[in-house]
Amino acid sequence: MKRSELIGLLLHNVALEHSAIIQYIYQAFLIKDEKVRSEIEKIAREEMRHMKWFAQKVVQLGGEVDLKRAEDAIDFSRESLKSMIEADISAEDLAIETYSKQIELVKEDSVKRLLERVIKDEMSHKEEFKGLLEEVTEEKAKENTETDEETVKVLNELLREEYAIILRYLKAFFHSKNCEYKDLMLDLAIESMVHMGDLGEKIGELGGVPDLSKVDLPKEEGLSLPDQVKEDILKEVASRERYIKEGEVSKREDVRKLLEKIKHQEEYHRRRLSEFLERVHRFTVGDLR
Ligand SMILES: [Fe+2]
Ligand SMILES: [Fe+2]
Ligand SMILES: [Fe+2]
Repeated sequence: MKRSELIGLLLHNVALEHSAIIQYIYQAFLIKDEKVRSEIEKIAREEMRHMKWFAQKVVQLGGEVDLKRAEDAIDFSRESLKSMIEADISAEDLAIETYSKQIELVKEDSVKRLLERVIKDEMSHKEEFKGLLEEVTEEKAKENTETDEETVKVLNELLREEYAIILRYLKAFFHSKNCEYKDLMLDLAIESMVHMGDLGEKIGELGGVPDLSKVDLPKEEGLSLPDQVKEDILKEVASRERYIKEGEVSKREDVRKLLEKIKHQEEYHRRRLSEFLERVHRFTVGDLR
């Protein structure tokens, strides 16, 4: 297998893991049963680790991580708790089947070992989902609360902005050669995932459906590190302003509180990035001397 083919195969796996993550967190936002929800969240976190491992392999082999998803592999149906878990079992089956075939094709030891490890994880996920399926009784029909469509729409816009930021930061995390920046990017990506989680849960609580449709990563402009950090800062500033604006007009106290909390964290993100930018400048100037 040529190196480019191996990179293609690993990128396919990144997409497959990305799809599973999205399907699982979508469900976690909607499911009310605490036990089922925390179980699915736990599995989603393991898929994140898989995605990271495959992506890091791509980078090691000299490829570029695009963070696409396998759109057909995502099941957004939500008829019943049982049908959701069945969709998850299918997702695990697809992963097991795909990775098992790849193990036969791939020669590189490190990739083989990675695939073996991930297959084991997917098999235990499948067992966990099967266990859940046996346990769940159908969720009681949703109480007839009116869905607050207007608030849900705004929260979904914010959620999609967080999703876009997560992909941007993860991409920087995978590709940056500056250790401090890499670390900062992972940190801010994780915090943004928490924001996305809080927004998604609130959407579910309000009777809405989280909008986790595809978000495109803008084409790489090949910016220098300081320019990239400046872009990050602009995005953080814009995001903070958006939280302030929506917080001011929201009629709901719980939503205002949530947006207020995230707003403060966005301000903190901006500071971290600005401090980093100063250090980069200092370092560069020192270097020239
Ligand atoms: Fe996985
Ligand atoms: Fe899995
Ligand atoms: Fe942020």
